[in-house]
Amino acid sequence: MFNERELRKGLKTKTFGKKIYTFQTIDSTNNCAKAVANVGGPEGIVVIAEEQTAGKGRLGRRWLANPNENLTFSLVLRPSVHAEVIHQLPLYVGLALAEAIEKTTRIRAECKWPNDVLLNRKKVAGILVEGALKENFVEYVVVGIGVNVNQTVFPPDLANKATSLRLECKREIDRIALFRDILTALEVMYQRGKQSGFGFVVSRWMERSSMLNKPIAVSQHGTVITGIVKGLSREGGLILQANGLEQTLFAGDVTILGEVNDQLLPSAPSQQSSVVLPRS
Ligand code: BTN
Repeated sequence: MFNERELRKGLKTKTFGKKIYTFQTIDSTNNCAKAVANVGGPEGIVVIAEEQTAGKGRLGRRWLANPNENLTFSLVLRPSVHAEVIHQLPLYVGLALAEAIEKTTRIRAECKWPNDVLLNRKKVAGILVEGALKENFVEYVVVGIGVNVNQTVFPPDLANKATSLRLECKREIDRIALFRDILTALEVMYQRGKQSGFGFVVSRWMERSSMLNKPIAVSQHGTVITGIVKGLSREGGLILQANGLEQTLFAGDVTILGEVNDQLLPSAPSQQSSVVLPRS
């Protein structure tokens, strides 16, 4: 099992991971981090677990990961940004995560809108951002990250959609070193975002995406929109050209037509957004 001392050893971040709660088994690290944030827990707190009994993915799905082989953790952020730009935050996290994964694997890590990281076209990491707003400002966000690190066997329905760093690199990966690299990449980019806005992530994210000009299907509230990807808006929405018209989407489940990639088991559809906010 992880322990805080080991995880923090050699970690050069200023605030991210200053306090790390470690668990062998927990329901969901996001639930725990939200509970901590709701009682005023400061920015930078991390909750990490070897096993989640109710790990959550986007769209109300479950996140499945073998215990002791992967990374499943959540980070509390208090970015004080306007609610308008909340959709930039998952892009920032995806970009930092892709950079850290690429540093370890030396394999090009790709971003898939809104929240996935792919290696060789298969999903290697997912992000679930849950937030709370106060008077149109972001009060906090909990960034939940699941990375398939050393898992080599996936359930049959995920086997051709999901992969791990180990499968792609053909060697065992040091999970703690990867955890430190991810936290460092997140903090470096976050500091820039806090100083000058998170807008800079949009173009860098797009450079890591192979979605541009591809036909996709976006499933949204029970309907499916198909179109060609034309880029990302400044706010982090996906610009889709459909029937000669451009529209910007802020939510949905994307399938790149002709490809498959998702590490999630279906359950009742719920929030369909890149950021989960409490219902008002
Ligand atoms: C997705 O791809 O749909 C997002 C998956 C996010 C999974 C992580 S694992 C750590 C954190 N705790 C959760 O319950 N979910 C996130």
